Amino acid sequence: MNLILLGPPGAGKGTQAKKLVDSYGIPQISTGDMLREAVKNQTQLGMEAKKYMDSGQLVPDEVVIGLVRERLTKPDTEKGFMLDGFPRTVPQAEELDKVLAGLKKDLNHVISIEVANEELMGRLTGRRTCKACGSGYHVIFDPPKTEGKCDKCGGELYQRDDDNEATVSNRLKVYDSQTKPLIDYYQGKSLLRPIDGVGAIDDIFGRIKTVLS
Ligand code: AP5
Ligand code: MG
Repeated sequence: MNLILLGPPGAGKGTQAKKLVDSYGIPQISTGDMLREAVKNQTQLGMEAKKYMDSGQLVPDEVVIGLVRERLTKPDTEKGFMLDGFPRTVPQAEELDKVLAGLKKDLNHVISIEVANEELMGRLTGRRTCKACGSGYHVIFDPPKTEGKCDKCGGELYQRDDDNEATVSNRLKVYDSQTKPLIDYYQGKSLLRPIDGVGAIDDIFGRIKTVLS
């Protein structure tokens, strides 16, 4: 099963991706996570990408396309994959089509998680992530049992550099202007599966499973 998770910042792509990994055993390919890893390791790509990420802009298409192209040749993608946060522009989507054609793979579903902008700011400024295992939390909507500590591994929770109000509001604008056109793009290919992204995390996961079954 080859999936794309589409949706604005804070829609719950990463949250639902983790549940899909557990249930379906296919890898999550998050360009945001790959870029943050590069920033952490201070690679040249990471240092270049950080400027864009901190201001809420998109990293140039050719950079992310290169990352995804390489990742999709790894053997763990043979039984399927889930792209989280990619593609994010029409040129990225067109390039993905070419990469997949070259690998003789098809897309099965584009899960489009829909949440109104008013709800997204609060979700993002309250997000916390485990430094050690990457598990996601929210200070109000999905709090850890002990403040600042991961339930799963005890790791320290941190707040992403781009989850401040100024950067979030830019990320939401960038989504509307550059990524929203992908809804029509995938609708036109009959791949779009809209999912109401408001409600309990497990209920939303149930809606996604219904679409996939
Ligand atoms: P990326 O890391 O992809 O960030 P994003 O798209 O802005 O999305 P988020 O990760 O912020 O949101 P999410 O949908 O995963 O939400 P989550 O599940 O965590 O990209 C970061 C940056 O990297 C970009 O700005 C860009 O610079 C660059 N980049 C990445 N990919 C790129 C590309 N393809 N091209 C160019 N540049 C690229 O949930 C959010 C919070 O809400 C959590 O706290 C969670 O607990 C909570 N929550 C989840 N579900 C619910 C619910 N149902 N109710 C209440 N709270 C909920
Ligand atoms: Mg995410």
